[in-house]
Amino acid sequence: MINKIKSLVEEIDTLQASTIEDIEALRIKYLSKKGEISQLMTDFRHVAPEEKKHIGQLLNELKEKATEKINSLKEQHKSKDNNVQDIDLTKTAYSEPIGTRHPLSLVKNEIIEIFSRLGFSIAEGPEIEDDWHVFGSLNFAEDHPARDMQDTFFIQSQPDVILRTHTSSVQTRVMESTQPPIRIICPGRVYRNEAISYRAHCFFHQLEALYVDKNVSFADLKQVLLFFAKEMFGADTQIRLRPSYFPFTEPSAEMDISCNICGGKGCPFCKHTGWVEILGCGMVDPNVLEANGIDSSVYSGYALGMGIERITNLKYRVKDLRLFSENDTRFLDQFNSAN
Ligand code: DAH
Repeated sequence: MINKIKSLVEEIDTLQASTIEDIEALRIKYLSKKGEISQLMTDFRHVAPEEKKHIGQLLNELKEKATEKINSLKEQHKSKDNNVQDIDLTKTAYSEPIGTRHPLSLVKNEIIEIFSRLGFSIAEGPEIEDDWHVFGSLNFAEDHPARDMQDTFFIQSQPDVILRTHTSSVQTRVMESTQPPIRIICPGRVYRNEAISYRAHCFFHQLEALYVDKNVSFADLKQVLLFFAKEMFGADTQIRLRPSYFPFTEPSAEMDISCNICGGKGCPFCKHTGWVEILGCGMVDPNVLEANGIDSSVYSGYALGMGIERITNLKYRVKDLRLFSENDTRFLDQFNSAN
């Protein structure tokens, strides 16, 4: 059998055929069900067990060789024969560039992945909102400056229709229809009436997290923040919480991470402080729980919100926010995982 295989290997090496019919005849001779190689495969059953491994390997190589040879004869035939029928007129003359994921999507997905490991699920809400969901239910005073036309886009014909200025509105959307435990993250686009520059844009992206349950404490919040910072920016990352103010949280804080460029030693990026701010957070104000139909004597919660552009800038050092929305492929191509 080994001799037979060897002589077939030699024979296949020398095969020639110029018409498609001849090539097909060769395929039938060697590779069809009744062809010579299939015949050998059938005979293989009677090979002694100790020889099976070796002969099996030779047989497989023979089959591969024959298949390759027939295919290459077909290819040769195709390139020789410029028959019009073989030309695909719909094919472009240029190779098709492969698209890439947008850097904001890459970072958003990474944040989602980290929080989903902690049991958070995704919630979404509308970008066109009303005053109650963006401000009223979140404990903003009637005269809070954020409600001003200067910060918020109003839809002119309808006084109570606005573009959401933050994803905190989704907190309300979820709380008003769900009783705790609530453990959600809300990624999405937000709008603010800002002049466009390298550091501000009229739309950007945020990601909000909300956890409401019995006995949720500031220690829980701190632990999640530390976990997030280390997962996102590396195990050496340190965090620092500074007291702050948001209408919807009490107490409120802003979180800094140790500068991931200089490792906390101080550089122009962190203005030589060693720290960079990345998000706002706090314990959900009882007024917010009550406004959304949740009993604040039973439940407590924490919330946090971050700008996805900000996190992306820190990860990829993008200095001009406008690049994110210009769709310049020279910029976007740099995030191609194949590069
Ligand atoms: N909504 C805030 C903003 O747009 C961000 C924020 C701060 C969200 C603190 C929160 C939070 O959930 O607890 O600036």
